[in-house]
Amino acid sequence: MQVDLRILRFDPERDTAPHWESYRVEAEPMDRVLNLLTTVKAEQDGTLTFRRSCAHGICGSDAMLINGRNRLACKIRVDQLGKKITVAPLTGLRVVKDLVVDMDTFFSKYRSVMPFLMTDSPAPERERRQSQADRARYDDTTKCILCAACTTACPSFWAQPSYVGPAAIVNAHRFIFDSRDDAGDERLEILADKDGVWRCRTIFNCVDACPRGINITRAILEVSRAVVERSV
Ligand code: SF4
Ligand code: F3S
Ligand code: FES
Repeated sequence: MQVDLRILRFDPERDTAPHWESYRVEAEPMDRVLNLLTTVKAEQDGTLTFRRSCAHGICGSDAMLINGRNRLACKIRVDQLGKKITVAPLTGLRVVKDLVVDMDTFFSKYRSVMPFLMTDSPAPERERRQSQADRARYDDTTKCILCAACTTACPSFWAQPSYVGPAAIVNAHRFIFDSRDDAGDERLEILADKDGVWRCRTIFNCVDACPRGINITRAILEVSRAVVERSV
């Protein structure tokens, strides 16, 4: 089948503003959008720029706005989108070139919640043990691949770019509710800030956007509840 692909292009060395360019691409229904982008780059315009690595929904590097929704280009298929497909960079982050956005602010918010295990007790001789129930407590939020699809779909983030955003809260949740971790209080203090959990207005765009199916809003509500419990 023939697909009409429109891509929002921007080269800061050449363009003063982003503009749409159209391409006609031969595709199979089971092809992914990443296949189409690769074909355009190989056969029609080698200057087209996008990120990708694993091509299997694991590395999180090819989230983009596809037919109006944030998705991974390597996961969404042509038969799910139809013969007219539009692709644009994620909203709310500076465009470096074409579909590549600057992820620095996204990752600095991720780092701000200290997304690693912190313990007060000395390291045991073997592993720090955990019951299956305790492990299950934060299982959902271990699935994040840091693609930024959630944060860049969030109207609260668009309105207030200093909002820490759903991805950082998801990754804080993963450690706050880990029974082996001792730094939950510090993370809750960070997320009690004006740019923390209170900026969430329960809009749910993040849940729709997440390619890992994480119940992000539930995670945010659980962290919000923990922030309140800590303060009383
Ligand atoms: Fe991507 Fe989901 Fe992680 Fe957000 S929570 S960064 S959408 S994987
Ligand atoms: Fe934004 Fe998701 Fe909250 S879209 S407002 S972080 S529920
Ligand atoms: Fe790795 Fe798509 S290329 S998630």
